[in-house]
Amino acid sequence: MKIAILPGDGIGPEIVAQAVKVLQALELPLELEQAAVGGAGYEAHGHPLPQATLALAKQADAVLFGAVGDWKYDNLERPLRPEQAILGLRRELNLFANLRPAILYPELANASTLKPEVVSGLDILIVRELTGDIYFGKPRGVRTCPDGQFAGQREGFDTMRYAEGEIRRIAHVAFQAAQKRQGRLTSVDKANVLETFQFWKEIVTDTGLQYPDVKLDHMYVDNAAMQLVRAPKNFDVIVTGNMFGDILSDAAAMLTGSIGMLPSASLDENNKGLYEPSHGSAPDIAGRDVANPLATILSAAMMLRYTFNQEEAAQRIERAVKQVLAQGVRTADIYEPGMQKVGTRGMGEAVLAALRSAA
Ligand code: IPM
Ligand code: MG
Repeated sequence: MKIAILPGDGIGPEIVAQAVKVLQALELPLELEQAAVGGAGYEAHGHPLPQATLALAKQADAVLFGAVGDWKYDNLERPLRPEQAILGLRRELNLFANLRPAILYPELANASTLKPEVVSGLDILIVRELTGDIYFGKPRGVRTCPDGQFAGQREGFDTMRYAEGEIRRIAHVAFQAAQKRQGRLTSVDKANVLETFQFWKEIVTDTGLQYPDVKLDHMYVDNAAMQLVRAPKNFDVIVTGNMFGDILSDAAAMLTGSIGMLPSASLDENNKGLYEPSHGSAPDIAGRDVANPLATILSAAMMLRYTFNQEEAAQRIERAVKQVLAQGVRTADIYEPGMQKVGTRGMGEAVLAALRSAA
């Protein structure tokens, strides 16, 4: 069980360090090897995804990824920006299935900006296609506008596209996830305007014939955004394309009020995976021991579940996190008066202590 540890930038190194401690405490035969990525990769080797880092990620069974990005790289040309590291890893490792759960822990019901009755007990799973769509479609670039009112001016353009097999494989992941949950799947599209998503809807519907036990419905993305804040508990599993999934998963994450709590998994055909917190690198609080490491720790639990088939170990971590929350231990992002405020390391230690006391 070889794991590539890619801490990255901003708060990445601090939160990943806590997840590594938790993994090591499990006494499983894990082999961990670390490499630089993102801005840190650029500083060390002149590229956000250095060759050696990509080689390690390819060779490992799973990747634990912190976060990338910092304002100080904003002026670099696009291929050298930290974000290219995560996009490159997704593409090179064929990580097409992105699972983003949004769960509201009862202890944190007050952290949401929505009324508790709207969000309490929230448990939805967004399945986002991650290696296609307008993110990777070609051609793209800046060219001279060929026709119309703005002919002759420069124009920026991208290509939205989905191949049939690409839609089918993400649909299968989503239907199978729904089978293990409440058996309801909402496919989000923009079929009323876009050819790509008219086709998406057709292929998802057809794939659904193989899953008569799952109740499939379809929703336009604008309506989905509205329903996510109006009645989020009506959703079970959502499947959608890369760009809509990017947007909706941030909205879903924020329903819980604590994006610092949400893990994610990005999987290939064989359940090899990259695991990362749903939040970003937060350079404004980097190095100050205030970031919440729980999303990364919970990402490590997802790794044990999906890549290594260690359900029991995954649940040990998840139980330890619940216990720590029940004890009132809080990082600043989820703090409420009367609770015990801890830093990044303190939260990691609390999870370790809960793990050990349960063992
Ligand atoms: C995400 C992020 C990335 C994305 C960025 C950092 C490229 O927003 O993982 O959701 O757009 O996919
Ligand atoms: Mg995003």
